[in-house]
Amino acid sequence: MRITVVGTGYVGLVVGACLAETGNDVHCADLDVAKIEGLKKNVLPIYEPGLDALVERNQSQGRLKFTIDVPAAIAGAEVVFIAVGTPPDEDGSADLRHVLAVAELVGKHMTREVVVVTKSTVPVGTADKVETAVAKHARLPFHLCSNPEFLKEGAAVDDFLKPDRVVLGVATDHARSVMAELYAPFVRTGKPIIFMDIPSAEMTKYAANAMLATRISFMNEVANLCERVGADVDMVRKGIGSDDRIGPSFLFPGPGYGGSCFPKDVKALLRTSEDRDAEMSVLRAVEEANDRQKHVLFAKLKKVMGDSIGGARIAVWGLAFKPQTDDMRESPALTLIDELLGAGATVVAHDPVAMHEAQRRLGDKVAYAATNYDALDGAAALVVVTDWNEYRHPDFSRIKSALSRPIVIDGRNLYDPNKMKNLGFTYRSIGRGDQS
Ligand SMILES: NC(=O)c1ccc[n+]([C@@H]2O[C@H](COP(=O)([O-])OP(=O)(O)OC[C@H]3O[C@@H](n4cnc5c(N)ncnc54)[C@H](O)[C@@H]3O)[C@@H](O)[C@H]2O)c1
Repeated sequence: MRITVVGTGYVGLVVGACLAETGNDVHCADLDVAKIEGLKKNVLPIYEPGLDALVERNQSQGRLKFTIDVPAAIAGAEVVFIAVGTPPDEDGSADLRHVLAVAELVGKHMTREVVVVTKSTVPVGTADKVETAVAKHARLPFHLCSNPEFLKEGAAVDDFLKPDRVVLGVATDHARSVMAELYAPFVRTGKPIIFMDIPSAEMTKYAANAMLATRISFMNEVANLCERVGADVDMVRKGIGSDDRIGPSFLFPGPGYGGSCFPKDVKALLRTSEDRDAEMSVLRAVEEANDRQKHVLFAKLKKVMGDSIGGARIAVWGLAFKPQTDDMRESPALTLIDELLGAGATVVAHDPVAMHEAQRRLGDKVAYAATNYDALDGAAALVVVTDWNEYRHPDFSRIKSALSRPIVIDGRNLYDPNKMKNLGFTYRSIGRGDQS
């Protein structure tokens, strides 16, 4: 099938590469000249496991093309995916400018009957706006589809190739049959394609992210209470996660959720609920709890170090908002670093893949270490923010001898509190043992 994907970011690039992998003729268009020039040479703008090989193979075999000429990419397409950003507007609502600009271009430049697929996360009711924007110039029939994306950064290629489910909001038989054919290779193991009306598909994405954010904030508050009552949140997590009604995923406490999706989507859903006069008090509390949680790492360090934080050098392991990605959008590491710098500390940071992104965001406000151990030299304390695998079994004697004070604040509960105590560390984690 002849496919166009507009927007070549975390989502669009994965969608384009995976659809090319199943034999489609895919044109990926983006306004970012540097990004497209890089992609033409197989230089990826993001770190995503497995994606580079997919791009290289499909580009060399001629099934995947990159261009900044959005109109030319739209001409000839049977399906156009809109995968541009929907950042939060000042009031928290999703900014639809990019989505609607692309929709207008589809109407202007389509040369055959086309299915217009909204992949970007957009509030309920956006399809009506997309329809109006396309219809403004369209001279041929077009069909709308809402196809929210559930991929996880860090596992995006796998998630797209082997989805738990595909959600498709459609209003016509044509859209239904074209999309069913397109997705058939990805659901051969029997995972469902769930067809529904368009507003329900738009809502499904927000409800999914709001539910996941709720689990995280809930467990973070349980962890904070565990610290006060002398309970161990890891035991509590196992105890409740083995209940089939609850399940074990997304129960890990930490320094608050980040990334491009949860914070933005929670805000946008709250905004929709206000506009429609439907109170979502639980979700409001989820957001407030997360805002508070992002300060816990600094608070724990401050409790241990007091005013000696000022002037101290602090090592930070992990900058990305989660492992296996270089995405630092809304990362708890940014909140921590701001607080450390505000308190007069100097920061030396390490991340296995997000260092270039950190340099772009933070410049020379922090120092960057080539390895996680290099970050410790001359540091008074270590704060672990991201649960990268390579931080899970470090050489503790090396950590202890490099730090001027043996303080470790572990935002991901990677280490055993008893072992850390026996090794002579002042060790604090989230919701376990003595945090006084
Ligand atoms: N990142 C995720 O994990 C994820 C998961 C599911 C859904 N989503 C949703 O998918 C959408 C895209 O997210 P992302 O993380 O890929 O964003 P991104 O910022 O990485 O990429 C968006 C791309 O769109 C391009 N763009 C913007 N306006 C354009 C225009 N008018 N014409 C052509 N290109 C344009 C930008 O240059 C950029 O390359 C958002 O709505 C997001 O909420 C993201």
